[in-house]
Amino acid sequence: MSSPPTLPAPTEKGAFVRDMFARIAPRYDVANRVLTAGMDEGWRKQAIALLAPPHGGRILDLCCGTGDVVFHLLRTDPTLNVTGLDFCVPMLDGARARAPKEARGTTTFLEGDAMALPFEDATFDGITMGFSLRNVVEIDRVLGEALRVLKPGARFVNLDVSKAPNRVWKSLFDLYFYKMVPLVGGLVGGSRQAYTYLPNSLTNHPDADALRNAFTTAGFLDAHYVRLMGGAIAIHVGTKP
Ligand SMILES: C[S@@+](CC[C@H](N)C(=O)[O-])C[C@H]1O[C@@H](n2cnc3c(N)ncnc32)[C@H](O)[C@@H]1O
Repeated sequence: MSSPPTLPAPTEKGAFVRDMFARIAPRYDVANRVLTAGMDEGWRKQAIALLAPPHGGRILDLCCGTGDVVFHLLRTDPTLNVTGLDFCVPMLDGARARAPKEARGTTTFLEGDAMALPFEDATFDGITMGFSLRNVVEIDRVLGEALRVLKPGARFVNLDVSKAPNRVWKSLFDLYFYKMVPLVGGLVGGSRQAYTYLPNSLTNHPDADALRNAFTTAGFLDAHYVRLMGGAIAIHVGTKP
């Protein structure tokens, strides 16, 4: 069966996602704030609270985009040494442009693929990922790489859209996510096609329980998740043994 037009075939997904984010990069931050009514800032803070990064620790933010999670990390603790990694250069350019006024600690923005991390084993004291796992080609490879580059006892925290367990709430959220986001994202973010793909990327994404199980299968200890917004948003947490 062929994929619907808004969902690329797996072999084309990486290039499709990179090109799409390159197109929406200039207005990505504004579109985010509008589409979430500014609530995404609070969700990111909660994810960082669950990471509980050690003072002065070395943290990796996977798929950092324009750096929202990175800058939240540095506002939380300016002693952190944070690396943001993304495979889309225009998104990284946005992050680098924000850095002089937003970064109060040590920051590096690096071009790279979350499925093949350019780091030694056991390098980081924590890893974050925001609104991105739906976009990668192979979730299991990202989980495996995150586990590899974490130090023992360090956490991986993943914040993303999820599938609400209550049917009525899920229907209401789906209405917003699948109908309003393409309209508003098209107007504010500048690409209706991109903001049609983004909600659709949730369709084949594992629900919160299945994703927690994927964390466990990958080898994380104490894999669990916290639901926000009635489960429309979830933060998954796993610890490297
Ligand atoms: C929705 S944005 C999220 C950006 C940021 N984390 C945030 O919270 O705003 C998704 C990002 O994932 C990046 N991305 C997707 N797949 C990737 C991969 N395999 N490796 C690196 N970056 C990837 C895209 O380029 C894009 O910047």
